[in-house]
Amino acid sequence: MSTISFDFRGKGIVVTGGAQGIGFEIARRFLASGASVSIWDYSAEALKAAETEIAKNPDHKSRAFFCSVDVTQMASCAAAAAKLPFALDVLVNNAGITRDKSFVKMTEEDWSAVINTNLTGLFNVTQSALPKFSADSKNKRIVNMASIVALYGNFGQTNYAAAKAGVIGMTKTWAREFGKRGFTVNAIAPGFIETRMTSAMPKEALASMVAKIPAARMGQVSDIANACLFLASEDSSYVNGTVLNVDGGLVV
Ligand SMILES: NC(=O)c1ccc[n+]([C@@H]2O[C@H](COP(=O)([O-])OP(=O)(O)OC[C@H]3O[C@@H](n4cnc5c(N)ncnc54)[C@H](O)[C@@H]3O)[C@@H](O)[C@H]2O)c1
Repeated sequence: MSTISFDFRGKGIVVTGGAQGIGFEIARRFLASGASVSIWDYSAEALKAAETEIAKNPDHKSRAFFCSVDVTQMASCAAAAAKLPFALDVLVNNAGITRDKSFVKMTEEDWSAVINTNLTGLFNVTQSALPKFSADSKNKRIVNMASIVALYGNFGQTNYAAAKAGVIGMTKTWAREFGKRGFTVNAIAPGFIETRMTSAMPKEALASMVAKIPAARMGQVSDIANACLFLASEDSSYVNGTVLNVDGGLVV
């Protein structure tokens, strides 16, 4: 339950990796705020489950679109952008994966899979989606999902930390390049959020991380959705090129 209500009626949103986890919660919250939302994901199973869940609310169902997209493939992103049933106001670059291993054990495949999804994926999606933004909108928004590990590193995440640090560099560059065209571009750096991504981490590693969080709990997908809706709203129009840590104070 949120105590802040956002009004996204008439707005068009794309959420990549939107079929589960953080992305699904973000998509759900945009739908609840009146937007039309296109969910881009490569997991057929997750897309089906998301569609079934959203169909429980006929009003949301009427504004939700589901698109099978692999963000690592430019052609896939371009095809999805060409099929968008609305002009775009907000793009949320959220799709991401982990392939954790210590550096000495990390294979070239582990490296490439994470870089291709978490870094090149943003390039592919944003290049494809940029021409689809509404020419009239004075509040165009791009929100990129980074991670606090980009800021302080993490054992076993050479590939992931490098990709997410790249996301922050890309965010700041786009904030400069697109600012005059009515865009803001910001990143969210989540801490440890309860999703399937963190449930794959070793329990002891997770427990020792939680012990260091001043807020004394893991984050919830709603914590990230709250930040995302704010950064996507007209109320954040003077917030540009920033990285918003949503981590319970882990990185202070
Ligand atoms: N969970 C956390 O603690 C945490 C912390 C920091 C950052 N993040 C970031 O938040 C984002 C969401 O993470 P999550 O925890 O919800 O993960 P998740 O695994 O639950 O969801 C990620 C979604 O992205 C989709 N996806 C993956 N590769 C894709 C591709 N090539 N093309 C299209 N879709 C693809 C998956 O199918 C999935 O639906 C990621 O970018 C992740 O790096 C998560």
